[in-house]
Amino acid sequence: MPGGTQQGELNLLSSMSESSSSDIASRPTPTIQPAEGKLGILIPGMGAVTTTFIAGIEAIKQGMAKPIGSMTQMNTIRLGKRTDNNTPKIKDFVPLAKIEDLEFGGWDIFEENCYEAALHAGVLDKPLVESLREPLSKIKPMPAVFDSNYVKRIHGPNLKPKGSKMDHAEMLMDDIRNFKERTGSSRLAMIWCGSTEVFHRPAPVHNTLRDFECGLQKSDPEISPSQIYAYAALRMGIPHANGAPHLTTDTPALMQLARDRNVPIAGKDFKTGQTFMKTLIAPGLKSRMLGVAGWFSTNILGNRDGEVLDDPGSFKSKEESKLSALEQILQPDLYPELYEHIHHKVRIEYYPPRGDAKEGWDNIDIFGWLGYPMQIKINFLCRDSILAAPLVLDIMLFMDLAQRAGMRGVQEWLSFFFKAPMTAPGLYPEHDIFIQSMKLKNTLRWMKGENLITHLGLEYYD
Ligand SMILES: NC(=O)c1ccc[n+]([C@@H]2O[C@H](COP(=O)([O-])OP(=O)(O)OC[C@H]3O[C@@H](n4cnc5c(N)ncnc54)[C@H](O)[C@@H]3O)[C@@H](O)[C@H]2O)c1
Repeated sequence: MPGGTQQGELNLLSSMSESSSSDIASRPTPTIQPAEGKLGILIPGMGAVTTTFIAGIEAIKQGMAKPIGSMTQMNTIRLGKRTDNNTPKIKDFVPLAKIEDLEFGGWDIFEENCYEAALHAGVLDKPLVESLREPLSKIKPMPAVFDSNYVKRIHGPNLKPKGSKMDHAEMLMDDIRNFKERTGSSRLAMIWCGSTEVFHRPAPVHNTLRDFECGLQKSDPEISPSQIYAYAALRMGIPHANGAPHLTTDTPALMQLARDRNVPIAGKDFKTGQTFMKTLIAPGLKSRMLGVAGWFSTNILGNRDGEVLDDPGSFKSKEESKLSALEQILQPDLYPELYEHIHHKVRIEYYPPRGDAKEGWDNIDIFGWLGYPMQIKINFLCRDSILAAPLVLDIMLFMDLAQRAGMRGVQEWLSFFFKAPMTAPGLYPEHDIFIQSMKLKNTLRWMKGENLITHLGLEYYD
């Protein structure tokens, strides 16, 4: 948590830049290249989220399901005044890749194809997976770049041959070229859906691209597998998003590579179950100036993700990402009487009988007028991968759009999808889901040269 003064300065900086929204609005509207041909989605990690995502897309392609939970497919965007009644679907407003034009490829340390991995993950009903056996069986994971210092508790045989970290990056680039040729994809985008790597902070090797490339040659232990995949993607001009909380592109070196190659990057950590709930509820409590004395969150989870998160190093990555949202939303530096002493605790317990059907409990101790205490209890019986799968789709379609619109570097407008949104260095992330949603939709309006919507609304009363 930044100290009071620093946070205050950052708030001021942020409010200055956002109050001058006319500057942003007056930036020239980008030219968006059409979404012609196929979009190949490359995924390191073919576990529960990936197989639920791919199976869902195949089911949608065959007319067996609707894309529920997907903003790009179902949400609308208001254009102009409320009285204009002009609210097209987002997918009809901006030129996105079509579901039928998606191709999938990925890597995993296990050899199971996507059909087998979906059965193993146990998220989807067996008859549904059986009915998709043919397209899913064709998707076989390529051998992974893996390091058991970064992901403990799991071991698999499907690994790249020994070599330096630069050799591994080159092998991944070969995989990508072969995938593109094999599928006839005209564009590619990558999203990390692999296990959460252990917590680590940026090291000297992440300072500049030069340092990073030397580090790859020397197999510097501070470079993680997820960073090798990201490096391969960015070197080839492929947008990269990170669905897990570890660093990956959130380092000066890889941000520089993304800018140099004009490639969009985004992350980190899909905002799905408990943090999704937090970013819905906390902004409401704050807007009413209700105090929060404590927020205790615990989860039981029994899938492979839960098994990896049972390792303290991986849990530390997740914990940092989960804790940050609440602190940024409540802004204790601005409201010390309400939030300075909040006791925020997050626990994840690996409990195999539950599989992917996670259960989360939140106990929120709040206080109101005259300091009188009250409590809120939330019991969220969610399905992690069912919540994450549509985010994978939306993030990939928007990253491809950003690429075609010439938007490079960190795509903060996609914060809506992430627990720990990446931002420009020194800028605090926006966690409030309502602000994130407005930011996202205004970015789409800006891309298409439409007026931004401020919700001022005085014109209706002139
Ligand atoms: N499901 C959610 O709601 C949710 C929300 C936020 C973040 N996430 C993150 O998304 C990621 C995927 O979640 P999941 O439930 O699918 O997990 P999972 O354990 O089912 O799948 C992860 C897969 O990644 C593979 N893997 C690990 N290291 C790899 C490497 N170096 N290269 C290639 N493959 C590798 C594993 O073998 C495994 O099959 C996790 O990091 C998780 O923390 C998930």
